[in-house]
Amino acid sequence: MSHVFIFEHPLIDHKMTIIRDKETKTKAFRENVSEVGALITYEITRDLSTRTKEIETPISKMIVKELLKPVVIVPILRAGLGMVDGIHNIIPTAKIGHIGLYRDEETLEPHVYYAKFPVDFDQSVVLVVDPMLASGGSASKAIDIIKEHGATDIRYVGLVGCPEGVKRLQEDHPDVNIYLAALDDHLNEKGYIVPGLGDCGDRLFGTK
Ligand code: URA
Repeated sequence: MSHVFIFEHPLIDHKMTIIRDKETKTKAFRENVSEVGALITYEITRDLSTRTKEIETPISKMIVKELLKPVVIVPILRAGLGMVDGIHNIIPTAKIGHIGLYRDEETLEPHVYYAKFPVDFDQSVVLVVDPMLASGGSASKAIDIIKEHGATDIRYVGLVGCPEGVKRLQEDHPDVNIYLAALDDHLNEKGYIVPGLGDCGDRLFGTK
């Protein structure tokens, strides 16, 4: 069974308050989503493996460490895009893949309309990014596709989850740890997390 990590940090809490407040405007919303992405990434990369190599500082030779595996950030379109810049600022060598999903209106099942990943994807640590872990259907499908492309070291990164989404993702992908800024109460009948923050994509891109 995978682990669920909910980060308790005053800066994350403070920024989540701004993000959740319905009075927060698009610019501040977008900036804070990106910044929480960066803060979460700092925490979740503590256990990444490193290798040693020799370099020369301006003064002398020195044995130093660098990340062992490449990192790939994979936002689930479109809300996942909101966390990418913050994560990329912390790991500038990371490559970025993309996954786009739409929901079939009759079956409500997610289908992939776009998937693009960098070379060496199967050797990489993959951060699947979607701010809202709601029903878990999209995240689960995205991770199916990521695994089909050979990745084995996968972490889910989001802002807000709910028990329904966590349960679904843990059942479907017990090897994928889940990293969130907050775990909320429940999913409502319209598919929104309660209390949540509303429609993250609309709030990021000003589409409502
Ligand atoms: N997607 C959102 O943007 N918000 C929710 O509350 C649930 C899914």
